[in-house]
Amino acid sequence: MPAPEKLLEVKDLSVHFGRGRKKFVAVHKVNFDIFKGETLGLVGESGSGKTTIGRAIVRINPTTDGQILFKGRCISGRIARELDREVTQKIQMIFQDPMASLNERAKVDYIVSEGLYNTKNYTCEEERKEKVTKALLSVGLLPEFATRFPHEFSGGQRQRIGVARSLVMNPELIIADEPISALDVSIRAQVINLMNQLKKDLGLTYLFIAHDLSVVRFISDRVAVIHLGQIVELADTEELYENPVHPYTKGLLSAIPVPNPRVERKRQIHAYDPSMHKYAENPPKWMEIAPRHFVLANEEEMEGYRQNYNHHAKDAI
Ligand SMILES: Nc1ncnc2c1ncn2[C@@H]1O[C@H](COP(=O)(O)OP(=O)(O)OP(=O)(O)O)[C@@H](O)[C@H]1O
Ligand SMILES: [Mg+2]
Repeated sequence: MPAPEKLLEVKDLSVHFGRGRKKFVAVHKVNFDIFKGETLGLVGESGSGKTTIGRAIVRINPTTDGQILFKGRCISGRIARELDREVTQKIQMIFQDPMASLNERAKVDYIVSEGLYNTKNYTCEEERKEKVTKALLSVGLLPEFATRFPHEFSGGQRQRIGVARSLVMNPELIIADEPISALDVSIRAQVINLMNQLKKDLGLTYLFIAHDLSVVRFISDRVAVIHLGQIVELADTEELYENPVHPYTKGLLSAIPVPNPRVERKRQIHAYDPSMHKYAENPPKWMEIAPRHFVLANEEEMEGYRQNYNHHAKDAI
């Protein structure tokens, strides 16, 4: 089997806001790859730095340190105008709140076309309209909706408009930033199914951001867990759910409600205590505990993780 192609590489990415004493470290030395055709889930609680990473990839947030590579080329920091244009087209972001992210005063036609206008990615008006029609149809909306305003649509339809405005650019990588969190529970599955179908049909790759582990389990090939601006664990999805190593991941997993009252009563909530980590003298590193399973730990912690891991793996056999 040929090695999977790395579409995106994030290397030691740090993003700081402010300067001097007001400096705030939103993302600290984050590393991960996204392989072509996969869905990588990025999970962490509010304020952990998920959106900041997404915005750094699409070049909205400047990076303080580290590098981001798209198809092997560096796309962070100062880059050539031609490459910037390519990134603007090929990497699209879908935002969390479809109510807030769509321009209320613009018609759907304009909203979906915005990226095309910005990159002048069409030769004539007719071609632009064709692209809009195709994008609307691909997300299950009627082409005649183009003349309407966002407030005329339901939350689920508005998120479809959000998906259409990214698809119209013919992207390769989509960063979906909590695309279903603001939606009614009843329509979440529809949007997830739509995104999965589009991924298959169009050969897309996703970075799927969410704040709880229950959503990403069913759509991600691999999952990265982020805590206070650092990725603490990353593994293939089933491996992460079966053999979580980092206490923060365990804490997140124990917070997933289990729809079985007997299990539910026995469930213990693990709270992650950052003070357990005495990192001053013995700083953590990004280490591989099992094939493709990475955890952020110092040597002392890693020793404990390894023992538990082997114990657990033996139980499973
Ligand atoms: N432009 C900015 N200026 C200053 N601080 C910022 C800026 N953008 C984000 N932050 C801070 O960086 C931290 C990470 O924010 P971010 O939006 O990436 O979190 P998140 O994981 O996406 O959270 P949520 O789940 O709530 O969307 C937060 O503490 C936030 O207040
Ligand atoms: Mg966010």
